[in-house]
Amino acid sequence: MTSHPKLQQWVREIAEMCKPDSVYWCDGSKEEYDRIFKLAVDGGYAIPLNREKRPDCLLFRSDVTDVARVENRTYIASRTKENAGPTNNWIDPIELKKTMKELYNGCMKGRTMYVIPFSMGPVGSNIAKIGVEITDSPYVVLNMIIVTRVGTKVLEVLGTDGEFIPCLHSVGKPLGPGESDNGIWPCAPLDKKYISHFPEERTIWSYGSGYGGNALLGKKCLALRIASVIAHDEGWLAEHMLILKITNPQGEVKYIAAAFPSACGKTNLAMLVPTIPGWNVQTIGDDIAWMKFGADGRLFAINPESGFFGVAPGTSADSNPMAMESMRKDSIFTNVALTSDNDVWWEGIGYDAPGTLIDWTGNEWNAETAAKPAAHPNARFTAPASQCPVIAPEWEDPRGVPISAFLFGGRRPHTIPLVHQSRNWVHGVFMGSIAGSEVTAAALDLKVGTVRRDPFAMLPFCGYHMGDYFRHWIGMEKKTSTDRLPKIFFVNWFRKSDEGKWLWPGYGENSRVLKWVFERCDGTGAAKETAIGFMPTVDAIERPAGVSGEDMTEMLSVDKKGWIKEIVSIKESYARFGDRLPRELLDELAELESRLKNA
Ligand code: GTP
Ligand code: SPV
Ligand code: MN
Repeated sequence: MTSHPKLQQWVREIAEMCKPDSVYWCDGSKEEYDRIFKLAVDGGYAIPLNREKRPDCLLFRSDVTDVARVENRTYIASRTKENAGPTNNWIDPIELKKTMKELYNGCMKGRTMYVIPFSMGPVGSNIAKIGVEITDSPYVVLNMIIVTRVGTKVLEVLGTDGEFIPCLHSVGKPLGPGESDNGIWPCAPLDKKYISHFPEERTIWSYGSGYGGNALLGKKCLALRIASVIAHDEGWLAEHMLILKITNPQGEVKYIAAAFPSACGKTNLAMLVPTIPGWNVQTIGDDIAWMKFGADGRLFAINPESGFFGVAPGTSADSNPMAMESMRKDSIFTNVALTSDNDVWWEGIGYDAPGTLIDWTGNEWNAETAAKPAAHPNARFTAPASQCPVIAPEWEDPRGVPISAFLFGGRRPHTIPLVHQSRNWVHGVFMGSIAGSEVTAAALDLKVGTVRRDPFAMLPFCGYHMGDYFRHWIGMEKKTSTDRLPKIFFVNWFRKSDEGKWLWPGYGENSRVLKWVFERCDGTGAAKETAIGFMPTVDAIERPAGVSGEDMTEMLSVDKKGWIKEIVSIKESYARFGDRLPRELLDELAELESRLKNA
């Protein structure tokens, strides 16, 4: 327990409102994890997996409606609507609290209320932030123990008056006497779900969903939406970025951070196995980066998380062997399929489904007769980062690692080349601001497959006006010297042929592009200047087996017609930021347009 009066009082108030049967403070011990693990199994929530094949692993299934983030039920309740900006849902904070207090009233009846003190970032690091999540979901507790640093050690750092970010979560389904949850995790109907952020108060209230990004409040809610506001106020960056370490054959090291929208390849790139001899990639983080300038003017990044909450479908020994190894034991699987010998299976796991499975909805599933996938397209694995065979030794260094390059990207079947580099910092910010992607299954309420603008991969995660966010990024240039600023690149692993086939093999082969990025940071790496920025000469990136010279040329050239169409859509997306859109970005757009017309 704690001797922090403010924390004690908050926990008391929440318990009075939510009326749980009991209150439990998490200490973060192994014994505790095992106890809650057993409780989840005995309570019928979770299925323990095969002890030989998946030691100490659990499978959870959600309600069929509770499988992803719900962007249209996610709110930034800043005091004014203007400050939330045009890309966020807003409700007046006083009104929202009133509505939610009614929902929270008695919502934990029949359940245990868990109090989870957690640290985002190494415990005690001066970049780290402490949160305390209250939840009635054992699924949330187990996941938080893996993806954040939980327990007594955090309370010790908090002391009697340390700062913490209060994070309240309930699945929103009280249990009457004798009632139980029927083997799936409970949730509230869609119109009762609220994923709410109060940025000025630095408080999070989440109700009605048990799913990852809606319920593991340290992750997207704290480490991005609330942290982005704090970062804006304090002059640093909280970003939806992986962090990787790349070493060349001479043993020289660089760190690269990359922002791709949800389900667009961060986890995969973070732990890729290079196909080019002599090069090595190691992982620092796979989803979130917090970055501050160091005394030497370089930008240092930490991974605030301690585990991966990764997309399962498509993950195989071929595509991402390091992720497969990370989840061999002590991991949690959500909405994947179950084999007859209690192992997991999903589409793209790399081998055929072994006989009849139980699909993610709990029904029998057979490859021959199936009409739907066995695993939900947004099925996830939760694995400790420490189990990743290529986790970099310095991944928990409280000072962070110095970033040499930023990559932006997304799923773009046409137009956007394999890689191009910005002309300068502001042009790089422009490139981040126009990022877009085909929509994936990671959020519930969007039409999968259509392209939407997702600036900096932060559209669903920026806790304030995105125009101000762009300005914040532009301002970074003034905080250091040009030679210390990371270089900025745009990549696209997802080009398709007219027949809908991938033009680029992706995964480990992406190391070829990383090599060029590495060389560009050193001022080597052959490039030509084009209307859209610097691009590799045709032979600067060695062609992978199976990619024709023609396809390579297509991926490395400027599609003038496509870009002119692109400009029309950028103008539309810019229009909604109104007068908060930095002028510099409009200038960049105008210059791009004129360069294209003259090309
Ligand atoms: P979030 O956890 O939602 O933020 O996603 P993420 O950005 O970490 O995406 P992840 O690496 O989990 O990849 C999502 C999906 O894209 C998986 O099904 C991958 O197999 C697939 N994918 C990743 N990298 C590549 C690539 O280079 N090429 C192709 N074609 N697919 C890829
Ligand atoms: C994402 O959707 O970007 C994820 C999964 O990383 S979630 O935790 O749900 O946000
Ligand atoms: Mn993510």
